[in-house]
Amino acid sequence: MAQNKVIIIDYGSQVTQLIARRVREAGVYSEIHSCALSAKEIAKLSPSALILSGGPASVGEKDAPRLDPALLELNLPILGICYGMQLLAQALGGSLSRSETREYGPAELKMLEPCALWAHLNTNIPTRVWMSHGDRVLVPPPGFRIVGSTDKLEIAAMADETRKIYALQFHPEVHHSVDGEQILRNFLFEVAKLAPDWNMNSFLEQSIAQLARKIGTKHVVCALSGGIDSTVVAVLLERAIGRQLHCIFVDNGLLRLNEAQEVTSCLKEHFNLDLKLVDASDFFLQRLRGVSDPEQKRKIIGHSFIEIFDAEARKLPQVDFLAQGTLYPDVIESVSAKGPSAVIKSHHNVGGLPENMNLALIEPLRELFKDEVRKLALELNIPDSIVWRHPFPGPGLAIRILGEVNEARLDTLRMADRIVQEDLRSSGWYARVWQGFCVLLPLRTVGVMGDGRSYDQVIALRIVDSVDAMTADWTRLPPEILAGISTRITNEVPGVNRVVYDISPKPPSTIEWE
Ligand code: XMP
Repeated sequence: MAQNKVIIIDYGSQVTQLIARRVREAGVYSEIHSCALSAKEIAKLSPSALILSGGPASVGEKDAPRLDPALLELNLPILGICYGMQLLAQALGGSLSRSETREYGPAELKMLEPCALWAHLNTNIPTRVWMSHGDRVLVPPPGFRIVGSTDKLEIAAMADETRKIYALQFHPEVHHSVDGEQILRNFLFEVAKLAPDWNMNSFLEQSIAQLARKIGTKHVVCALSGGIDSTVVAVLLERAIGRQLHCIFVDNGLLRLNEAQEVTSCLKEHFNLDLKLVDASDFFLQRLRGVSDPEQKRKIIGHSFIEIFDAEARKLPQVDFLAQGTLYPDVIESVSAKGPSAVIKSHHNVGGLPENMNLALIEPLRELFKDEVRKLALELNIPDSIVWRHPFPGPGLAIRILGEVNEARLDTLRMADRIVQEDLRSSGWYARVWQGFCVLLPLRTVGVMGDGRSYDQVIALRIVDSVDAMTADWTRLPPEILAGISTRITNEVPGVNRVVYDISPKPPSTIEWE
């Protein structure tokens, strides 16, 4: 069990989870807590160090989150980032300057003064950091030295090394801050003198113990999709509560070729799961008839899923909990937490379900990113075919068929999709890309087949690289592989005479087309 614990106090930044992730990557256990907690409550959590996150507010304005001054009396090492820095400056007697405009983007940080945060870095040359702030610190509080500046910002970093309080105006947690990871590690290891005593195996043990404690002798129902997230949740729960877990796999008719059968037999073979496969294809397809609008499709699928799942769950013994494989990116893109994050798409595995069902939610992966879930899956001995399976959206092929979803169009897409999966695997690219799939477009184009004219459908290939699905770029697949896929699709899939490659990054596009 990890001994060290970093508490991250969340002031509403979109990237607070990235701070937690970096701390985990450094091998230190961390928890995120709301800024509404008092210093007393924080102290009860026995933290070894505190990190104050950024946030969208302006210090001192009405309703802006505050810093409990008693936190500063806990004698803990503290790192304030962005809004966290401004809170520290204000609480400790510095002064701030308000600004209507935001500085957003890269800046060159000069590490002017010696500072423990700059350990192992070459301080003779500036390092690129990522800025996103409006207000700034004008005068540092007594006892603080300015240790870093940029051309536009005199106080980009300040420190009171005697009290071990540090503050950064930039975001070390984001990838674009080149030495950000080292700066955070310096806070953990050089300043707070923590030991890297945490890893995915500790997370596993902790989660299993917590789940067993929380659930006791009650029963849990879990919807399996065949994807890695819900599988990890199920296997984790099986380890915690054994046969008190009941899994339901709903075949919504929107899955890839043979997927429902393949996945359920694989899971049954490897794990001792109570798993039921429910074929509800007709029900879903009937509901989707004539519907073209993407959000409407997602909502219909979400609601239909609830109905089927609810009916199945009622056949089980008394169930009190619903387990879901919600990940952090699902949370941030679907729920507008404290204002800053807009709803991009309604992900059907977040929200909706429990209201009708009177079940308490269990979401053990809520703080993790996909690649962390994969590490967890490996710890759980989940077969490679599931661990390395590309993500597949809850609404399935329905959001990859632009326009109306029907059996014929599903068959076309399934055939094309099978070719992409096969060719990515046989060329060794499957494991190297984040996702590779086909989209069936709602239009026809002219082609020539043999001596005749054709007027047929178009398949778009979407193959992307990504680390966590928050951003993505199209994969520079070798042209001969693309050519092979295109030839096979037009030759083998009836009714398709054209294949196009999607070369849009996310943002501004999303990975899925709907
Ligand atoms: P977007 O299209 O938002 O997708 O860039 C990001 C990642 O999420 C997957 N995705 C979903 N996963 N339910 C899911 O479980 C959904 O409704 C959903 N929509 C998108 C998508 O495949 C990509 O990996």
